[in-house]
Amino acid sequence: MSDFASRLITWQKMHGRHDLPWQNTSDPYAIWVSEIMLQQTQVASVIGYYSKFMQRFPNIAALALAAQEDVLQHWSGLGYYSRARNLHHAATIIMDQYNGAFPQDFDIIQTLPGIGRSTAAAIASFAFNQVQTILDGNVKRVLARHFLVEGWPSSPKVEKDLWRLAEELLPQQDMVAYTQGLMDLGATLCSRSKPKCSSCPLINTCAAYQQNRVAELPIPKPRKAIPEKYTTMLILLHGNEIMLEKRPPTGIWGGLWSFPETDAKLGFETIVLNQFAIIAEATQPLPVLSHAFTHFKLHIQPQPMQVLKLQPEIDEPKYIWLSIEDAIGAAIPTPIRKILHSLLKQSVINAHKKSA
Ligand code: ADE
Ligand code: SF4
Repeated sequence: MSDFASRLITWQKMHGRHDLPWQNTSDPYAIWVSEIMLQQTQVASVIGYYSKFMQRFPNIAALALAAQEDVLQHWSGLGYYSRARNLHHAATIIMDQYNGAFPQDFDIIQTLPGIGRSTAAAIASFAFNQVQTILDGNVKRVLARHFLVEGWPSSPKVEKDLWRLAEELLPQQDMVAYTQGLMDLGATLCSRSKPKCSSCPLINTCAAYQQNRVAELPIPKPRKAIPEKYTTMLILLHGNEIMLEKRPPTGIWGGLWSFPETDAKLGFETIVLNQFAIIAEATQPLPVLSHAFTHFKLHIQPQPMQVLKLQPEIDEPKYIWLSIEDAIGAAIPTPIRKILHSLLKQSVINAHKKSA
């Protein structure tokens, strides 16, 4: 076994994490769900979502049978919603093509939607004790430092070198502790800023440490300007209810509920949503809210509109009227939840003023 692997395994057993909700199981489903949630979300944020998700969808069959709406509702607030749509889709594939049993073949695991090479390796090692290496952002950082790998770790050339390096280091046994050790070291000691090298089991062989280059590595991604986009969201208020619109199945917030959007200037006016006419009056706009996506930044102007007349009643599955409280519980993205919370606060204040 490589010295790297044996020191990492020993350290993991002594100092690594052992009580995360998805540990101490070899159920591939439980591990799969956790790995998907952890792809772009921190452990601390995942824990609460994970237990609720597993309660509602305890196995592959339960997930496959559920409506997408229900799955998205349990993902609401976690972000990167294609993860939830892919998870759901993959569950139906496992039911249809693999008799409901999570596939054990490493190449087949990688064909499932939402599962790339590193996630497949995490599942294969944790659930099936297979000798496969992970390579996520944390592991790239550890390897780039320990072996002094220059260049941005996610560029195709550097990434190829890192995969080979990671494979060469693999032990032939103790894959659960080894894989978890890679994750734990990157998350707890070899962090991006202020790494705790003095507690690190790899300090004697770490090239970046020896050459005092820890702070420089890994080389960050070449920065491109992030485009800024603007939108006005119409908050149609009718009695105690607001209107939500279901977004198209793919793309940003695909399949989630949001507000209708416009780039038009507003006043007292008729809004036409598809064939439905709504007469509504713009009221005091809410403060602009900004939300960062991976590839752009979105500035949202929430514009409340008092509905004066609906003709005819909107009756299309794409639109739904809900109380603010019910809307907060629906499958909605985080910025919409923030807007609904500020509306709720405002309506409480207004009700208070009226009664005073
Ligand atoms: N990040 C990705 N997978 C993880 C796991 N199994 N435990 C902790 N952090 C993780
Ligand atoms: Fe990371 Fe420091 Fe350990 Fe090197 S010695 S692997 S930089 S924590």
